[in-house]
Amino acid sequence: MQILVTGGLGFIGSHTVVALAEQGFTPIIVDNLSNSELFIKERIERIINKKVVFYQADCNDYVAMEKIFQKHALQGVIHFAAYKAVGESITEPLKYYENNLFSLITLLKIMQNFSVQKLVFSSSCTVYGQAEKLPVDENNAVLPAFSPYGNTKQICEEILRDVIASQVLLQVISLRYFNPIGAHPSALIGELPRGVPNNLVPYITQTAIGKRPFLNVFGNDYPTPDGTCIRDYIHVCDLAEAHVKALEFLQKQNGSFIDFINVGTGTGNSVLEVIQTFEQVSGKPLSYQFAPRRSGDVTAIYADAQKAEKVLGWKAQRSLADALADAWRWEQAICKQTQELEKQT
Ligand code: NAD
Ligand code: WQD
Repeated sequence: MQILVTGGLGFIGSHTVVALAEQGFTPIIVDNLSNSELFIKERIERIINKKVVFYQADCNDYVAMEKIFQKHALQGVIHFAAYKAVGESITEPLKYYENNLFSLITLLKIMQNFSVQKLVFSSSCTVYGQAEKLPVDENNAVLPAFSPYGNTKQICEEILRDVIASQVLLQVISLRYFNPIGAHPSALIGELPRGVPNNLVPYITQTAIGKRPFLNVFGNDYPTPDGTCIRDYIHVCDLAEAHVKALEFLQKQNGSFIDFINVGTGTGNSVLEVIQTFEQVSGKPLSYQFAPRRSGDVTAIYADAQKAEKVLGWKAQRSLADALADAWRWEQAICKQTQELEKQT
C-alpha cells in the first residue's frame, strides 16, 4: 500500500517513514529539503534495508505534485510538510501562512481529483494554548493562538472541518502532537536543527557536547512545583507509530470523517526534571542558568492520551529517559560525522 509522506525527510517524517516500512506500507516521500538533508534518505534505507522512493518537490507546486499522484496508486497521505519555528513565524508570518496553508489546500485539491481519501494531518498541542484543566483532552476549547505558527495549525484544522462538512469523500485524523523529542535508537536519523535550536532537547544535547556554553532555562518563577514549565515530551518513535495506527484506523472509515487525537504520554515533566534525567542517562553534568521567561510560553501542558488508546489502540511505550538517551546518542553521532567531514576537507 503506497502512502505519500510529505515532509518525509524531516524529523518526525523520517521516523514515520521507517515505522510505515516496518509495518509493510510503501512510503513515497516528497520533501523540498527546506529543513532537511538528502543524506537522511540513505539513512532511512539503511535502517529498513530497502530503497525508498523520494521526490524533491514543493507541496505548493500543484503540477509537480500531480505528477507524483499520476505515477503512484496512493492509498493515503501523511502531511508533515510545514514550517514549524514559532519565533520565526512572528517575524515572518506570511512565510508561515503561505507554506502551511497552501500546502494543505494544494494537497486537498489533488487528493480530491485523484480520489485519494485517507489523510493524517500534523497538528499540535499549541491549539489548546494554556488549557485550564490538565491533562488536556480533545474536547478542550481551541484558544486563540500565541503565534502565526499556532494559528496556521488552527486554520488548517478548520479547513479540514469545512471540507469534511461539504461532504467531500475524505477521511481525516488530525494528530495533535505534544513535544516530540529523541531519535531513532540506531542514531542514524534524528532532529537536525539549523543554527541555534529553538527547542529544549536539542539545546541540551548541543550544550552537553560543547557546541553551546550553557542552557538558558526560561523562567523559574512559574506556578509549578519547581518553578519551571511543564510539558509532555513524547519519543519521536512512539509518535511515528501513532501515524501508522491512524492510517490503519482510517482504512476502516468511509464517507466524510474527521477526528482530532492527542499524541502525548499523559505525563508532564518540568524543564529541571528533563535536565536531571538527561544528566542521569548521559552521565554528563549540564551547564545551565536561569533566564527570564520566554514570551509566549504556557506554564504547563500535558495530554490526556486516553482517546489515542481507545480509538487507535496506541499508547506511548518509551520513557523520558529512553528519549533523552536516544537524543544524546544522535547528537554524538552527528558530532562525529561533522568531525570526519572536516578532516576530509
Ligand atoms: P521538520 O522541519 O523537521 O520537517 C518538515 C519537513 O517538511 C522538512 O523536511 C521540510 O524540508 C519539509 N517541507 C516544509 N515545507 C515544505 C513544502 N512546502 N514542500 C515540501 N516539503 C516541505 O519538522 P518536524 O518537527 O518533523 O514537524 C513535522 C510536522 O509536525 C510539521 O507540520 C510541524 O508543524 C508538526 N509539529 C511538529 C512539532 C515539533 O515539535 N517538532 C510539534 C507539533 C507539530
Ligand atoms: C519546552 C520548554 C521552554 C528552550 C514548541 C512549540 C509547539 C510545538 C512543540 C510545534 C519550555 C523551555 C526551551 C531553551 C528552555 N511545536 N526551554 N530553554 O515551546 O513547549 O513547544 O515545540 O507544533 O508549538 O511552541 O517546546 O522545546 O521550545 O520548550 O528553558 O533553550 O523548555 O521555555 O518550557 P514548546 P520547547
